[in-house]
Amino acid sequence: MLTSQQLKDYDQQGYLVINDFISPAQRQVLMQRAADLIEAFEPPKKRSIFTTDEQERSSDDYFLESGSAIRFFFEEKAINSEGQFTVPKQQSINKIGHAQHQLDPVYKAMVEELDFAAVGRELGIKEPRAIQSMHIFKQPSIGGEVGLHQDSTFLYTEPKSCIGFWLALEDATIENGCLQGLPGGHKIALKQRFKLSENGGTEFEPLDDKPWPDQPLKLLEVPAGTLIILHGQLPHYSAANTSNRSRQAFTLHLVDEDCHYPADNWLQPITSL
Ligand code: FE2
Repeated sequence: MLTSQQLKDYDQQGYLVINDFISPAQRQVLMQRAADLIEAFEPPKKRSIFTTDEQERSSDDYFLESGSAIRFFFEEKAINSEGQFTVPKQQSINKIGHAQHQLDPVYKAMVEELDFAAVGRELGIKEPRAIQSMHIFKQPSIGGEVGLHQDSTFLYTEPKSCIGFWLALEDATIENGCLQGLPGGHKIALKQRFKLSENGGTEFEPLDDKPWPDQPLKLLEVPAGTLIILHGQLPHYSAANTSNRSRQAFTLHLVDEDCHYPADNWLQPITSL
């Protein structure tokens, strides 16, 4: 599937852009499925859930259990300080995650159809395992910024094996918060690891305290249908969406089942179905 030039580019840059990986009809299937899931989703009645301590704990559980469930996370700006929605429900969701590729028949079928595992094998994963999926919305006007990070921070294995597949379901532009990456940055060390804390909740374990290289990020503006493959250690970022158009993306992350997946990783996937 990949040419020797693409494999070389991936090795040098830490990312790969493949146009027209997914058809307009396939994009529509995923976007419609997300809209249907949101339609059926009942937001919690007490939206102050995000403010008090006890309720924060329950929202932590909601997050921590999402590795083996289909959960809905709000855009920060979708809820005001009184706990009221500032936008309609369909425009309030930041992302849906993280196990729809296993639990939802539509996502599951699409992931099989697109055969990410075959691409993963070409990129060196011996036993590809889809560990996490996300439907990301980057909602018009309120879609939040995602700070510079490496995906292996969140999907850590020993040795490191994570590869991210980021599919543009809509055009991704500078105005609506396209991805930005640090070319060649996958060769720098993993900065930190996000894991379960011994006292409950989560924490970042520092692994390398050198600052990010002082080098401009490359804007990855891509048309809908494009696949961007991200090496797990490639630093990447996306700005807030200041436009009136959403920037939907579907992501799938593979790890190598031959590598060790620590029991204190924050994301605990479904082990069997
Ligand atoms: Fe990421």
